[in-house]
Amino acid sequence: MATYQLKVNGKSQTVEASEDTPLLWILRDHLDLVGTKFGCGIAQCGACTVHLDGNAVRSCSLPIASVQNQEITTIEGLSEDGSHPVQKAWKAVDVPQCGYCQAGQIMTASAFLEKNPAPTEEEIKNAMHGNICRCASYNRIYKAVEMAAENKS
Ligand code: FES
Ligand code: FES
Repeated sequence: MATYQLKVNGKSQTVEASEDTPLLWILRDHLDLVGTKFGCGIAQCGACTVHLDGNAVRSCSLPIASVQNQEITTIEGLSEDGSHPVQKAWKAVDVPQCGYCQAGQIMTASAFLEKNPAPTEEEIKNAMHGNICRCASYNRIYKAVEMAAENKS
């Protein structure tokens, strides 16, 4: 066990854990931020996506020891009230089905649009490609990302 200093959703947090504990478990079990989901556990599905210094990363495969002193943002920290353009577009398009993959989808989409605010359809599909949705809500996901880009730019 060791002590780690993390910055999560703008708040400093001190956590005790083994160095190889995945960030996902720190978020869910230590900090009670359960919006980030566990899917595959092997960086293949995207359900656990959060932002690390603004980049979309898979928290199931990131040991806590590797994320200290970086800005971690989870779905709970994306906006206080669901007012982020991606969240608004998600609601307008009514994207979710079962909802399980959606936090990861939104975190991938929001990091992507920060870097590419006016993407082509092709770029949106490429960016979202690694986030699996077992309900196959892909068309609505693409539409919502497009709408968020329009509302942002
Ligand atoms: S749970 Fe992390 S990528 Fe699937
Ligand atoms: S909405 Fe069910 S897994 Fe994506």
